[in-house]
Amino acid sequence: MASVLVVDDEKNYLFVLEDLLTDEGYRVLTASSGSEALDILKVEQVDTILSDIKMPGMNGIELLERVFANDPGLPVILMTAFAEVDQAVSAMKKGAIDHIQKPFDNDDIKRAVARAVEKRTLDRNLRRIHSRSDSVWGSIIGESEAMDKVFQIVKRVADTPATVLISGESGTGKEVIAKVLHKASSRSAAPFVSINCAAIPETLLESELFGYEKGAFTGAVSNKQGKFEFADGGVLFLDEIGEMSLNLQVKLLRVLQEQEFQRVGGNRDIRVDVRLIAATNKDLRQQVELGLFRSDLFFRLDVVHVPMPPLRERMSDIPLLTSHFLKKSCERLGRPIMEIQPETMRILCSYSWPGNVRELENAVEYGILMSKGHSITVEDLPNQIRSHSASTASPDVGLEGSAGLMDALDAIEEKMIRDALRKAGHVQAQAAKILGISRSNLQYKMKKYGLLA
Ligand SMILES: Nc1ncnc2c1ncn2[C@@H]1O[C@H](COP(=O)(O)OP(=O)(O)OP(=O)(O)O)[C@@H](O)[C@H]1O
Ligand SMILES: [Mg+2]
Repeated sequence: MASVLVVDDEKNYLFVLEDLLTDEGYRVLTASSGSEALDILKVEQVDTILSDIKMPGMNGIELLERVFANDPGLPVILMTAFAEVDQAVSAMKKGAIDHIQKPFDNDDIKRAVARAVEKRTLDRNLRRIHSRSDSVWGSIIGESEAMDKVFQIVKRVADTPATVLISGESGTGKEVIAKVLHKASSRSAAPFVSINCAAIPETLLESELFGYEKGAFTGAVSNKQGKFEFADGGVLFLDEIGEMSLNLQVKLLRVLQEQEFQRVGGNRDIRVDVRLIAATNKDLRQQVELGLFRSDLFFRLDVVHVPMPPLRERMSDIPLLTSHFLKKSCERLGRPIMEIQPETMRILCSYSWPGNVRELENAVEYGILMSKGHSITVEDLPNQIRSHSASTASPDVGLEGSAGLMDALDAIEEKMIRDALRKAGHVQAQAAKILGISRSNLQYKMKKYGLLA
């Protein structure tokens, strides 16, 4: 059960909020001052703090700073009276996850707390994943049923010599899985050598794989080891195997059968102990039927098959992946960890992701770079994702005649707000619910479009 600490010097608010949140299924702790709240935090595990800003002694913003000094990830929601706009702004700047205007709407409180608790849970899951006893699994995120199936296969075959074929669309994490298979095996101390069969012309690919002897061809001025030799004792990852020529497929098959080969231009048999992992974004079985891939090689490679599900078939992993990439990219870019606004997350969770996990990773990084504040808004997302959300949200709004995408998006947003208000009989709380945004956010947008009476 998630715990919420409510802090307010006005007893009435404490009672009301305690009741409301207990009914929602939270364990509720209450404090009537900032210092009392800090005392509670010393002994209790709390998932979210909901605090008033204006309190005698330590105010809500000071409390937030003290809390963050100990636990920077603890979500804090601050409440302010309607007139205290400046304080609300500074609260958000200091890293409050949300602010709620007093007198508040129960639904706004429920929504804000639910979101904060969800964030806390996500962060905790991420930490749990990253600290899994073997760091091997830390690089691969996924708790969906589809990924669970993948993990089951990987766990079963990681520490065996079996050849593995990983298939899946581009960006689904085939290489990540290949590396996990290597790290989770007793070959982990030996090299993981990777070669992309699509990126290298056929003749070069052969000498890259098998090496060459001095004088084998013009330019072969000395002997050179190939990838098979480099990978001895470890793993050779053959990426995009579907692109390999039929001619080279024969040579590869021979190594698989005999565990030995000759360098280009050489006649000495070289023995190696290499585990092969191959990846493809093609349907290799179909390639076999079309005569483009040798069936004997296919069966040799396909001893264990790991099909990577496209991201659209594991949409429940998107929040976790997004938090992971947010943290990873912010750290790499040397920026404080950012937030994802709920509308932004909603869009990420409804987009079809043709470029799969890689596209999501890039979208998060783009969002971080575009963001002007400490959270990623819908406007910060790459165009194709934003325009997808606009087209699915309101397909009847055309872009023709508008000055540009931003204007078009504004027009769509205004239309959606007008529609929601009409549907809600102009009850703002109801309209906010329809739109899935907070009432204060709705009021802000109504002001922007001149819809406030
Ligand atoms: N489950 C995952 N958890 C964390 N990161 C992931 C996951 N899946 C993919 N990624 C990240 O997404 C990016 C693409 O993954 P990867 O290169 O393994 O995809 P791929 O299937 O090999 O794509 P391609 O076919 O285009 O080569 C990488 O940066 C990788 O770290
Ligand atoms: Mg790849």
